[in-house]
Amino acid sequence: MKTPLETERLNVNLAGLRLNNPTMLASGILGYSADTLESIAEGGAGAVVTKSVGLKPRKGYANPTVVQVNCGLINAMGLPNPGIEEFTKDIREAKAVLKVPLIASVYGFSAEEYATVAVKAAKAGADAVELNVSCPHVKETGAEIGQKPEVLAEVVKKVKANVEKPVFVKLSPNVADIAEMAETAAKAGADALTAINTVKAMAIDLETAKPILGNRKGGLSGQAIKPIAVRCVYEIYERVKVPIIGCGGITNWRDAVEFMLAGATAVQIGTAIAQKGPNVFKTVAKGIDAYLKRKGFRSVNETVGMAHRS
Ligand SMILES: Cc1cc2nc3c(=O)[nH]c(=O)nc-3n(C[C@H](O)[C@H](O)[C@H](O)COP(=O)(O)O)c2cc1C
Repeated sequence: MKTPLETERLNVNLAGLRLNNPTMLASGILGYSADTLESIAEGGAGAVVTKSVGLKPRKGYANPTVVQVNCGLINAMGLPNPGIEEFTKDIREAKAVLKVPLIASVYGFSAEEYATVAVKAAKAGADAVELNVSCPHVKETGAEIGQKPEVLAEVVKKVKANVEKPVFVKLSPNVADIAEMAETAAKAGADALTAINTVKAMAIDLETAKPILGNRKGGLSGQAIKPIAVRCVYEIYERVKVPIIGCGGITNWRDAVEFMLAGATAVQIGTAIAQKGPNVFKTVAKGIDAYLKRKGFRSVNETVGMAHRS
């Protein structure tokens, strides 16, 4: 008998990538190493996304870079990474051991930089690239690109013109109309959209009367942002046809199913790994499978966008 993770009910085709179940590791929560990514795949993830990598090495911000708040974390890591040249070794090592698709998250300070990094990641073996146009705390990249439709379109077009693998675009919730940004990215050629990155936030220490994070402001993740993320996925689904990857505060199978009903084809999990460990993927996938069985669905794909059919 097949175990829940082997059942065809959970299989997903995400812009040409075949996932044995719709759960994925979100970018940045864990390091880059092949061992770490392999442990997440063994924990049941249907695909893994690397931490964001840029053209040149970056140190990131001074500590503290993460603060725990009610129902979530605020982080301002500052995109620390070894740069794409060094990182291609990690991609090659990870590809040699991983049995699930590997998606490289990339960022840049211009369309050319995004394209250069994406090309190198794809050549090193990444099965797809995810463009981080939504990091809320580093100047002149991330959300500063994803908040301006014309710049966003330029970045996506440039990467699409140079990379043959699927291109995912990770959107920021820190905009007036996320569906407009989704439409812009889709028209520029995005093969899938990830929603959402963290929500701009900060925390202040009462004793020192100072902001806690080294960078003062950061991005909120975890359970606190789930309803915001579900709303974003719902709005994007109404506007565009490309597959959506839901992300934000998913800790159990109910959260994952809610995102699918809103319109997500797959889901990414980040902050919950800190509390639940790598097996959170298996637990969520098994829970989705039990839900599908109980409701009489033959495939998880049948649930996608159901909340729109009233
Ligand atoms: C410590 C930390 C580091 C992150 N680093 C990245 C990153 O490098 N690139 C990126 O696109 N998103 C990054 N994110 C955002 C997550 O991928 C995800 O979009 C967000 O945390 C919401 O999902 P969650 O609530 O399941 O964590 C980071 C989040 C955290 C908490």
